[in-house]
Amino acid sequence: MNVGLKTQILPATEAAVASAARCLAQGGLVAFPTETVYGLGTDAANARAIARLYEAKGRPSFNPLIAHVGDIGAGMRIARFNAMATKLAEAFWPGPLTLVLPRTNDSAVVDLATAGLDTIAIRVPAHRIARAILRAFGGPVVAPSANLSGHVSPTSAAHVQSDLAGRIDLIVDGGAVEVGVESTIVGCFDAPLLLRPGGLPRGEIERVLGRALVQPPHEAENTTNQPLAPGMLASHYAPRTPVRLNAGHIEAGEALLAFGTPAVPGVDAATVVMNLSALGDLTEAAANLFGYLRTLDLRGARAIAVMPVPDHGLGEAINDRLRRAAMGRE
Ligand code: TXA
Ligand code: MG
Repeated sequence: MNVGLKTQILPATEAAVASAARCLAQGGLVAFPTETVYGLGTDAANARAIARLYEAKGRPSFNPLIAHVGDIGAGMRIARFNAMATKLAEAFWPGPLTLVLPRTNDSAVVDLATAGLDTIAIRVPAHRIARAILRAFGGPVVAPSANLSGHVSPTSAAHVQSDLAGRIDLIVDGGAVEVGVESTIVGCFDAPLLLRPGGLPRGEIERVLGRALVQPPHEAENTTNQPLAPGMLASHYAPRTPVRLNAGHIEAGEALLAFGTPAVPGVDAATVVMNLSALGDLTEAAANLFGYLRTLDLRGARAIAVMPVPDHGLGEAINDRLRRAAMGRE
């Protein structure tokens, strides 16, 4: 077990980037900011390091990881890009889009990273620090969100610290992230599959492709580990406090996670109110989502009541994460 490691925390300077690259080269576990959420990175070619990563997160090993690379060229060395994938990569990378593609046979990425699948998830992150670390390290870095398995994703270095201190080697603190929800995942097969709504709204992807993204069947109901879209475990994003969705009123002892004007009957009875976006702005709401869930989870409320959030644009990813949070933990 990694518990008991001394976790170094460094502000995101050039020296920290160099330390991060050195640490990755030695099989270390390094948390770093991306534009979506903080990632927990390790060398995609090092099976031992990846085994440590799964262990540090307490993550079931059937859940495959995203390989982060510096540019499309590096992506093409580990996966086969069809026309659709190339088009999406050119339009949206670097950025909050992950593509699932067939693996190349001779790639350096070890099987453990992809949980033995013959496909691989790849993305080119847009964050300055993530890009600097990838450049300095020089190879693909697998990086799940830097939280304990089942917790909400971290949007600040403090979140990473509270979940993983003592379990990983280094945290590079680059401040709060910009997007706040994970990347959108698209499977580039005969039809383009929306495997996970995320930080890049579906509409933008469909505009570039000139066709609709297809929803994989039974995705939302998939609670097993034999995944169509592996990792879409129903209870993935759960706080400890029960979450009640589409709250039309507040019951005594509940915390309120509001959106827009909190004109909900009983709002005065709420133990605490946090507003994802008073102006009803979905971008702001996405950036606040995971941090507010974490904060409300610590307030000892009997439940977190959540006001309805519109389902368009980034609202699709926000509602997806809220539904998972509401399903609770096993
Ligand atoms: O924004 C993000 O994507 C963040 C930052 C750190 O880059 N990463 C992230 O990773 O959210 P993670 O491990 O928490 O989620 C990765 C998702 C999982 O649902 C996983 O099952 C899915 O990607 N995935 C990975 N490889 C896959 C594959 N070959 N086929 C289908 N889904 C895959
Ligand atoms: Mg995650």
